[in-house]
Amino acid sequence: MGKKGREIVQAKIDVNVVISDLNKAYADEWCAHFQYWLAAHWVSGINADAVSSRLTTQSADELMHAERFANRIIELGGVPEMDFAKLASVGGCGYKAPPKDQSNLKQVIQDVIDAERCAVDFYNKMADKYKDKDYVSYELFKTVLLDEVSDEDEWENLLAQQS
Ligand SMILES: [Fe+2]
Ligand SMILES: [Fe+2]
Repeated sequence: MGKKGREIVQAKIDVNVVISDLNKAYADEWCAHFQYWLAAHWVSGINADAVSSRLTTQSADELMHAERFANRIIELGGVPEMDFAKLASVGGCGYKAPPKDQSNLKQVIQDVIDAERCAVDFYNKMADKYKDKDYVSYELFKTVLLDEVSDEDEWENLLAQQS
């Protein structure tokens, strides 16, 4: 924990609220990571390879986001959610299992788009909330927001390419 770093945040806002918002983001990133990783291995059929490889890369990006949120939580003296079973309920965007039909790429892609849109919405709200309160968390939410906005765009294009 960074003592001074925590103090300057606490002077403007309840640090426990910041930690709770960061934990929500942390949980959502884990759920997205798991959802995309599993879907990458599950999809099959014509055109599945391109979608699968994109899902693999994307799932690694979401895990990196989870790491960044975990580091910020620890920096503020908080504890990242440690109960794996609680991740889907701690997050605000939930987890969507891949469709039963392994060749239903459109559904897989739509589920990714839904998760990305939920994240875009949440991180945008968080950037607004923290912009004058906690500059470090603000920068983090803003940086991850940039990634998710570009992810959404990319998956929309992938969906449009599906016949
Ligand atoms: Fe992410
Ligand atoms: Fe993303």
